[in-house]
Amino acid sequence: MNEDKLLEIRDLTVSIKQGKETSDVVKGIDIDIPRRRVVGLVGESGCGKSMTAKSINHILPPFAQLTKGKMIWHGNSGELIDLAALNEKEIRKHCGTDIAMIFQEPMTSLNPMVRIGDQIKEVLKIHELEKNPEKAKARVIEMLDAVGIPDPAVRYKAFPHELSGGQRQRVMIAMAMIGSPKLLIADEPTTALDVTTQAQILELIRNMCEEREMSALMITHNMGVVSAICDYVYVMYLGTIMEQAPAKELFENPMHPYTRGLLSSIPRIDENPEFLETIPGTIPIRKSTFRGCEFCLRCSDDIQKCFYEQAKLKKISEGHYVRCHTAGGGEE
Ligand SMILES: Nc1ncnc2c1ncn2[C@@H]1O[C@H](COP(=O)(O)OP(=O)(O)O)[C@@H](O)[C@H]1O
Ligand SMILES: [Mg+2]
Repeated sequence: MNEDKLLEIRDLTVSIKQGKETSDVVKGIDIDIPRRRVVGLVGESGCGKSMTAKSINHILPPFAQLTKGKMIWHGNSGELIDLAALNEKEIRKHCGTDIAMIFQEPMTSLNPMVRIGDQIKEVLKIHELEKNPEKAKARVIEMLDAVGIPDPAVRYKAFPHELSGGQRQRVMIAMAMIGSPKLLIADEPTTALDVTTQAQILELIRNMCEEREMSALMITHNMGVVSAICDYVYVMYLGTIMEQAPAKELFENPMHPYTRGLLSSIPRIDENPEFLETIPGTIPIRKSTFRGCEFCLRCSDDIQKCFYEQAKLKKISEGHYVRCHTAGGGEE
């Protein structure tokens, strides 16, 4: 079992400063990413998904801070590294080669003035993966081909604005993959794309994971994306994991009222709602002293206990856990 682990996130807490107030936006979450698996992190906009992702490779914005937790990376030779404890220089060594990240809007990550091939080649140079310029170029063209860019030798010379949104996201994937990472963190990678392109990009990521023995952390607000690509899913609400299960199990047997809400309002894959109409209410702002269930004010099943005590994760079946006083019955 142990050799299948890639990343174990434990008690991860991210706090942000708003004036004099500090509040936790990620509240002590645990996430396991096994090797060669696609793990989903799903929840509404603002629940802390990007803050979680950005903690992993230390790219949190200045107002946010990783205040607690460990992120245990299982290296290829069995070595264990706590990514949370690394300094800037050490984490950069892992980024690109062990861990790569893609975002929603490739235009913000691509330099508009530099030909795409040269931008991908730069990754090889930075990580000293290929020093021979001709060989590096050949590797980039090969990678552009692998991510489905037509005429890769010609497109090598294209500038980002000359490509479609879908092709730009393919270029981002090529840039992420060129260092042969073990983990791809994909933060809403298809949200800005039309429905057909979205499906193609998800398929590409899935295939890349299988062919290259890579894992992915797929971050999305869209249960349609989860069903298309994920093996295992974590459902997050206001910085807390409310439910986790193998994807098939989650869709067949959702236990948390929030998960049920998300599932009953699966957006069409081409829609990106800011909130889900079938779950009444909006995400509340809470005092940091609140100890109840984050979801209680929007929940139809709440009981008095929910207001003053957050439930612990309770086991429903193998791999399926829910954080809810009323769901599933049984002991917590
Ligand atoms: N630019 C920002 N300024 C202030 N607070 C922010 C900013 N970005 C995020 N936050 C806070 O962090 C929380 C989590 O944000 P984020 O991780 O980006 O959510 P998600 O990716 O799930 O949409 C937000 O609900 C908000 O409270
Ligand atoms: Mg986000």
